[in-house]
Amino acid sequence: MDKFTVTPWEVSGAVDYDRLIKQFGTTKIDGKLRERMIRLCGGDEPHHMLRRDFFFSHRDLNLVLDDYEKGKGFFLYTGRKPSKGMHIGHLVPMIMTRWLQEKFKVNLYIEITDDEGFLHKKEYGLKQIGEAAHDNILDIIAVGFDPERTFIFKDTEYIRNMYPLLLNAARRITGSTVKAVFGFDDSTNIGLNMYPAIQTLPTFFEKKRCLIPCAIDQDPYWRIQRDIAEPMGYHKTAAIHSRFLPPLQGVTGKMSSSAGGETAILLTDDEKAVKKKINKYAFSGGRATVEEHRKLGGNPEVDVPYQWLKILFEPDDKRLKGIHDDYKAGKLLTGEMKAILIEKVNGFLAEHRQAREKAEKSMERFMRTGKLAKSMWEKTYE
Ligand code: TYM
Repeated sequence: MDKFTVTPWEVSGAVDYDRLIKQFGTTKIDGKLRERMIRLCGGDEPHHMLRRDFFFSHRDLNLVLDDYEKGKGFFLYTGRKPSKGMHIGHLVPMIMTRWLQEKFKVNLYIEITDDEGFLHKKEYGLKQIGEAAHDNILDIIAVGFDPERTFIFKDTEYIRNMYPLLLNAARRITGSTVKAVFGFDDSTNIGLNMYPAIQTLPTFFEKKRCLIPCAIDQDPYWRIQRDIAEPMGYHKTAAIHSRFLPPLQGVTGKMSSSAGGETAILLTDDEKAVKKKINKYAFSGGRATVEEHRKLGGNPEVDVPYQWLKILFEPDDKRLKGIHDDYKAGKLLTGEMKAILIEKVNGFLAEHRQAREKAEKSMERFMRTGKLAKSMWEKTYE
């Protein structure tokens, strides 16, 4: 069996997602659950990331839907550890979260873990983390959340309200648990040992059930939350997990900022950079020569441009199938597949940039003055 590792700190090797479900003890999102979503969304098909099994695993999504049907409601929570240069993979959970908020009209909490960034990246000072947080928040706002139902907060600021919650969570989590779950050892700084408790806190912002969209690497935190939630008087959190948007170099890994600029598309990449990166680095499932490709066809399963279209950039099922079939039949060439992707990515980033330019104006609303944000700053916890 191939070796792979998935933790919040490290993803390496060819990830086997079915094995990961077993390892983590989560549940596959099956056809029945998808149909239930369709029903609850008034007959609308679920977002294509859910439809195409990119969000593939969950914890208690069925219970969230039960609560919704019974009128008890639920709320959403997701987050981001600030650092320079968000890439398109970081938007995956944000886009899913936005879709869920739009469909279910629920509150959403977005935790900006400037504390985690500072404790984890020793080369960053608090000032740099603060700048990265500001920059990332603009990208997050640009995704298009409801400003009255969304609270975006930085841990270093909101900790003054959350501190009692933190104490209640932290005294239930032992050193041996975080060592076992996160691989911490005696040389890990004590701030990082405390941090997992902080990432559980937003699940306690309401007495309703919490649903967390994220990639599967964040699940270890939810395992800890699920051990402590009921004794604290709250629900075990629910989650839906995505696979990883792969890097340009191949379909089995995780796009990550630390792997270097040529492996990822950054939200700041201009049209030329996108074109160059995709043409130069995107792993292709095409054949060595045009003649061979025309004769034998390409392999979309290992073709990064095709996979990115499937995951994020081509929501139209019919069009996607056309691309798939033409590629397999050798009618569509590697260069043509890349050209389709380049146009889509550049269109996506142009829209994102436009939305980002307007985001600064609504930052206050998301963080302090919007309906939910304002109530959160007035709120105290026991
Ligand atoms: P961070 O900042 O590393 O990542 C933010 C979110 O992006 C997801 N992600 C990806 N998704 C798909 N494909 C990829 N290649 C990819 N790379 C990253 C991550 O799973 C994450 O959902 N500790 C967290 C911050 C956090 C958080 C949360 C995240 C705090 N509370 C609640 C999710 C939900 C972190 O370091 O995320």
